[in-house]
Amino acid sequence: MRLPLRRASGLGLRASGRIGAVALIAACTTDVPAAKIGAELAADPSLSTSPVNVFSCASCHATTVGDVPAGGPIYPGADLVDSTHRPSWWGGGERRLLDAMNFCLVTMMGGTALDESDPRARELDEWLESISPDDPSPAIPFTVVLQTDDLAPLAAEADAASGRALYRNACRGCHGEPVTGEGKIGSKTSTVPTDTVDGPVCAPTDGSTPPADCVRAVTVEKIRHGRFFDIGGLMPPFSTETLSDAQIADVLAYLKLDPVP
Ligand code: HEC
Ligand code: HEC
Repeated sequence: MRLPLRRASGLGLRASGRIGAVALIAACTTDVPAAKIGAELAADPSLSTSPVNVFSCASCHATTVGDVPAGGPIYPGADLVDSTHRPSWWGGGERRLLDAMNFCLVTMMGGTALDESDPRARELDEWLESISPDDPSPAIPFTVVLQTDDLAPLAAEADAASGRALYRNACRGCHGEPVTGEGKIGSKTSTVPTDTVDGPVCAPTDGSTPPADCVRAVTVEKIRHGRFFDIGGLMPPFSTETLSDAQIADVLAYLKLDPVP
């Protein structure tokens, strides 16, 4: 299937070819392949126009062709390898690749959507094409739970050692070490779980009593819903395919967020 974005870029290339041989040679000698520029854009937080953004595309997506190593990073976003030949994106919610990317650029990175005619849209598209050898490629399921479950029943079986590995692979890249926040991606990124323990939801200053499992519940809510469902902030959600409930229970055990008996 040819995407509107690819069609537009193809037309653009042919148009410049008609300028004439001299212009073409001049262009070729200085030309950095669009895919290479796209790869750089995908690793650069300043693709977003937001001065407070710290994320690049690579903060949330695997981008390396080849087998993902077992025990390697767990990203909230789908693997971008083979992404151009999928029939749909965002669990079927997006039908155009540019829209799928722009959704991330706008909602996750606080940036401005790229127009189809923007050279950066073509460069990102060429880069994605260059890391998409499989054609066709199946859509990636993305199940977001509406109501987060109370994972207390899973707590007895939860494994803090597994939770440590999961935290390192799924959370540490943004949050740094628990409690100290050492190595976090940006100064405004929360320290887990300290900022929730001391935060306005679980430590209200108006004298009201927070729910017993407040920190646990906020943590589950953030993992499952991120900034969506009117929660706010910047964190991406993790689908049930990316992190199972049992895995989240392991992370909670590692963070010592046992259910209140
Ligand atoms: C803060 C995290 C985050 C950032 C930054 C981010 N994304 Fe995403 N992206 C997601 C999540 C979450 C999804 C939805 C889950 C999924 O991929 O299926 C997603 C989905 C996508 C999809 C659809 C994948 C599919 O097969 O369904 C594409 C394509 C994509 N992002 C490209 C980009 C590009 C390009 C950038 C940089 C401009 C970017 N993303 C930045 C989190 C992010
Ligand atoms: C792509 C970066 C990213 C990843 C990956 C990520 N987070 Fe976050 N998270 C953030 C940012 C940024 C915030 C602060 C803004 C917000 O609340 O959305 C945050 C907020 C939170 C909060 C709320 C803290 C508070 O202030 O009360 C919790 C809890 C949390 N994250 C837990 C996790 C856990 C556990 C994981 C791993 C399963 C994880 N996050 C993965 C970026 C990330």
